[in-house]
Amino acid sequence: MARFLQLSDLHVVAPGTLASGRLDTPALLRKAVDALLLRLPAIGPVDAVIVTGDISDDGTTASYDRARAELDRLGLPLLPVPGNHDTREGFRHCFGDLSFIPETGLIDWAQDIGDTRVIGLDTLIEGQGGGLLRRESLDLLAQALEGAEGRPVLVALHHPPLRTGIRFMDAIALENPEDLARTLTRRADPLRIVAGHVHGVFHGHLGRHSVCTGPSLCSAFALDRRADAPVGFMSGPTGCALVDTAPGGVWVEVPLDHGDGPFRF
Ligand SMILES: [Fe+2]
Repeated sequence: MARFLQLSDLHVVAPGTLASGRLDTPALLRKAVDALLLRLPAIGPVDAVIVTGDISDDGTTASYDRARAELDRLGLPLLPVPGNHDTREGFRHCFGDLSFIPETGLIDWAQDIGDTRVIGLDTLIEGQGGGLLRRESLDLLAQALEGAEGRPVLVALHHPPLRTGIRFMDAIALENPEDLARTLTRRADPLRIVAGHVHGVFHGHLGRHSVCTGPSLCSAFALDRRADAPVGFMSGPTGCALVDTAPGGVWVEVPLDHGDGPFRF
């Protein structure tokens, strides 16, 4: 088994600026890491941190430097994938020192943490909101699955293979979930797919495999499925998730604002 924190959609900007003119995301990330450090003893041991993309909002070197400095405060191995707001160049500036991040091309990787194989896939189309899984990524996935029969597998990518019903997000969804589904048919046992992008918790399935999207550390999208739903973000709820790959282990949301208490029953 292995246990992971899943952080997503940090949208860090250069310090001194605001994301979308409103969110002080460097400060929000600092606050989130402070809160997690306080709560980790209660949450229990964690083996690594999966970061499901949109690390930077503005693509600046300063934003990536700040993001990495904050993430390093957790003192845990980092397993990041890029999101649509990232650039591969910036991402490599931030995480290129990690041995498994390819020096060129798509940022796909596979890492074994305990008995769990974690497979990170690059869905980034630079300059666009939507995502795509290319043949190269699907080939890496197929190969990584072959070596992990009988063991837990987590697939991490930014764009989830599901639709939320929120039109402005579905307009920038993963273009080819069917290709992912086809590649995963070769896996005998169910695995978990963890994603971000939609700034909220959605559970679904791709074939026999579960799909969970994590909340963002900085903002959320209202569940408004009307055709004329206003396009924009909410300041919360924000949070992250905990994933436990032991038999019977769960994917559970960890809200950053968890209220007061505990109060006696
Ligand atoms: Fe995002």
